[in-house]
Amino acid sequence: MSRKLRLGVNIDHVATIRNARGGRHPDPVRAARQAAQAGADGITAHLREDRRHISDHDIARLSRDIDLPLNLEMAATDEMLEIALRHKPHAACIVPEKREERTTEGGLDAAGGFDHLKPYVETLGRAGIRVSLFIEASREQLEAAVALGAPVVELHTGAYCEAEGERRVALLHQLAEAAALTETLGLECHAGHGLSFDTVAPIAALPEVMELNIGHFLVGEAIFGGLDSSIKRMRALMDRARDELDGEMSA
Ligand code: PXP
Repeated sequence: MSRKLRLGVNIDHVATIRNARGGRHPDPVRAARQAAQAGADGITAHLREDRRHISDHDIARLSRDIDLPLNLEMAATDEMLEIALRHKPHAACIVPEKREERTTEGGLDAAGGFDHLKPYVETLGRAGIRVSLFIEASREQLEAAVALGAPVVELHTGAYCEAEGERRVALLHQLAEAAALTETLGLECHAGHGLSFDTVAPIAALPEVMELNIGHFLVGEAIFGGLDSSIKRMRALMDRARDELDGEMSA
């Protein structure tokens, strides 16, 4: 039997819609509660330096009012470290951040940024926060994550989701190789970015992957069928891919 695959629901874009009018609706904390009821195993939120979606107050409320584990996505800055240490989320995923980007465009350069990242990984870890590094699927980055002492990596699935045809197959292969390598290196493997109903199954079928973090598509799809329905369908697609994998492994 492969391990259970957890779903972390990223509620950033509920806050994006709220902020378009500057009021309180729709409330990301209400979305997090609904996600919990729909089968999410965790809530993910990215407090960006420019506060374009999630606010400091959202993080305080999510930490206080939601029973599911909170995964705080954050840049490696002193400001974000101080916020993480104040709220002590279950996990902190360190992501690269550029103000001008529309979303987190590439993985963290864990190898090139080693000296900068080291104190953040250590301080978060010492505070009992499970640190993950959002990286591209490459041996160099995985080995840097090990050297940094991060227990978890999240593989960036954005390029795979955007690609088509043979290029998508090649990127999936790269993700599969990296996921297999996490096992050898003793890292827990997560994946996320850009995943949709169409792209989730092959990633859910990678046996080493233990958690997917999915946001934009789920919130977008909620416009048409509700958040409950979009999360339940995603959960079902993930579970089916995992069941098929178990069938293959026991055949
Ligand atoms: N994982 C990480 C590290 C991210 O930065 C994001 C985007 O905030 C996601 C997962 C979710 O990506 P998406 O919103 O495209 O599903």
